[in-house]
Amino acid sequence: MLDLNFKYKDIINFLKDNSPFKPQLAIILGSGLGEFAGGLKTHKTILTTSIPGYPASTIEGHAGKIHFAEYTGKKLLLFQGRIHFYEGYLLSKCILPVFITHKTGCKKILLTNAAGSVNINFHPGDLMLATSFNGINIKKELTGLIGLSGIEEKNQVLDLPSQSFNNIIKKAALDEKIKLREGVYWYSKGPSYETPAEIKMTRKLGGDAAGMSTVHEAMFSSYLGLTTSAISCITNYGAGISESKLSHSDVTETANLVRDKFERLLKRIIIMI
Ligand code: HPA
Repeated sequence: MLDLNFKYKDIINFLKDNSPFKPQLAIILGSGLGEFAGGLKTHKTILTTSIPGYPASTIEGHAGKIHFAEYTGKKLLLFQGRIHFYEGYLLSKCILPVFITHKTGCKKILLTNAAGSVNINFHPGDLMLATSFNGINIKKELTGLIGLSGIEEKNQVLDLPSQSFNNIIKKAALDEKIKLREGVYWYSKGPSYETPAEIKMTRKLGGDAAGMSTVHEAMFSSYLGLTTSAISCITNYGAGISESKLSHSDVTETANLVRDKFERLLKRIIIMI
């Protein structure tokens, strides 16, 4: 029997002992977007390597730090680095940042990621608010996890992404005069980028951006009752849309180029929550 409270009791106790406050918003910072934490007043930074049993971060652009930070008096929990399924970790490990968020008493989470465009009107450097996610396979796996963890399974349609939080994010973008695309975030396991045929298929099925994270976190956090939204930084054209070959360094470089815009949006959102 997989009981997350038992499985992660040392990690949760460690973080409880090291939490300076109950956060109002948690943010998981995606590939190349982690630097956001550096611009804020940080109360405490914990290296995930110092947390007993925390999965190691293996990817460039994912620092493996958890920050308790503050901006305009709002208390924040920032995950600089996430745990990916394609790194070989079980889903029960990938949702750990969400579980930690829940255990700190925080009720709201914003998931950010880097993604490739699928919609041909979206371009590198664009930001996209997720309006929905694909998740049939993930739901199947999560259902097992949730059923086994003593977390009540919910059959009703989840408010995912949160309509009220999405409305705040849209208003924040308007206030900052940032063009915010809206669309469906489409997960695939990776670790390779999609083939041109897969991007074409994804477009036909209704996807607007392709990525390798976020959906299981979003579904799990929504199951836990957290208000959940997600923003993608479009870092590249999906395979086959442009001639150029994809690489992880392109992804982090574009993410660096949009850092200013992304930070302005996040800060405005924080002010508005
Ligand atoms: N596909 C999947 N994941 C990604 C991509 C992509 O094109 N870009 C950044 N993360």
